[in-house]
Amino acid sequence: VKRHAALVPLSEDHHHELVQARRLLAAAESADAEGRLAAGKAYADAFFETTVAHFRREEEELFPVYTRHAGSTPLLERILAEHMQLHGLARALRADVAAQDVRAERLRELGTLLREHVRVEERELFEEIQRVVPAAELATLDEHGER
Ligand SMILES: [Fe+2]
Ligand SMILES: [Fe+2]
Repeated sequence: VKRHAALVPLSEDHHHELVQARRLLAAAESADAEGRLAAGKAYADAFFETTVAHFRREEEELFPVYTRHAGSTPLLERILAEHMQLHGLARALRADVAAQDVRAERLRELGTLLREHVRVEERELFEEIQRVVPAAELATLDEHGER
């Protein structure tokens, strides 16, 4: 998939998120309680340290540019709802970690939702954004988009 330069940093984050999703799913399938706790803690930390900022960049910088051209679409509504779901699951996971009781089901649910979310963003929403937003306008995202 050819990505506009302004979308490349977010797409790179998506690669990391897919790795995290695979780790969550692997831990759900085969880790013991200690391994699930370690995997849960690693993901909860990563979520609040980096994924929250990624969601914010999408919601506050990228998506408004898209809605200026497309309005609000069912696809975007789905993505925003998933951000809230992922946030809720990550908070629940953080509580599980604090209680030292991370169930396979929680890891599986988070891993599955994260993987699907990233796939839909990459394959559908980002494609759609590149289709409807003029490249010159996407390029202006870079100007306030440094991290
Ligand atoms: Fe997202
Ligand atoms: Fe994303």
